[in-house]
Amino acid sequence: MEAIEMIKERRSVRKFKDGAVDRETMTDIIDVARWAPSWANTQIARYTLVDSPDVIKQLATEGVKGFSYNMKTLENATGVCVLSHVKGKSGRLDPEKFDMEFANPEVWESFDAGIACQTFCLAAHAKGVGTTIFGVIDKDTIPKLLNLPEEETVSALIVYGRPDETPNPTPRMDTNEILRFV
Ligand SMILES: Cc1cc2nc3c(=O)[nH]c(=O)nc-3n(C[C@H](O)[C@H](O)[C@H](O)COP(=O)(O)O)c2cc1C
Repeated sequence: MEAIEMIKERRSVRKFKDGAVDRETMTDIIDVARWAPSWANTQIARYTLVDSPDVIKQLATEGVKGFSYNMKTLENATGVCVLSHVKGKSGRLDPEKFDMEFANPEVWESFDAGIACQTFCLAAHAKGVGTTIFGVIDKDTIPKLLNLPEEETVSALIVYGRPDETPNPTPRMDTNEILRFV
């Protein structure tokens, strides 16, 4: 698939066919996602892929703060990528080598996670796997449910599966509204 076509045609998919995407395909998707750029190549993103129906149910009841819209999507989801990132690495440089102050390094941690997130979604789209990013999530319960390492924090949930809908294009602002040349 052409890159431009892929960027323009990816849509959030919230209805999925029965049956989990095979783990080999999901491993191939992570194999592409790992090429996402990151602050000083710190590569802080981690992908925990949940394909157990029981754990997906738990994420629906305990992981999205009771937000019914996301609970409904999770009802028919066959996979959830719990995107997390390792804390304390991105957004700063070795103080022994660089004598500078860095403000709000956690902003850059989230920035790296965002790039990793979109790279995952595009790689999935290229392999025929639909995704929707969830920002309405419970960052406290999810690590406990999945026993995530202490050093990581959850960035987003990404529901994934074989699409059972072709969503209409969502509107975008015109190019001339968001672009300036100087
Ligand atoms: C940071 C972020 C958080 C989002 N959170 C949710 C969410 O909690 N639930 C949901 O259904 N969609 C969520 N979305 C999906 C957006 O609604 C969707 O990307 C947007 O409407 C554009 O549609 P498209 O992805 O089909 O182009 C989120 C997207 C982003 C980037």
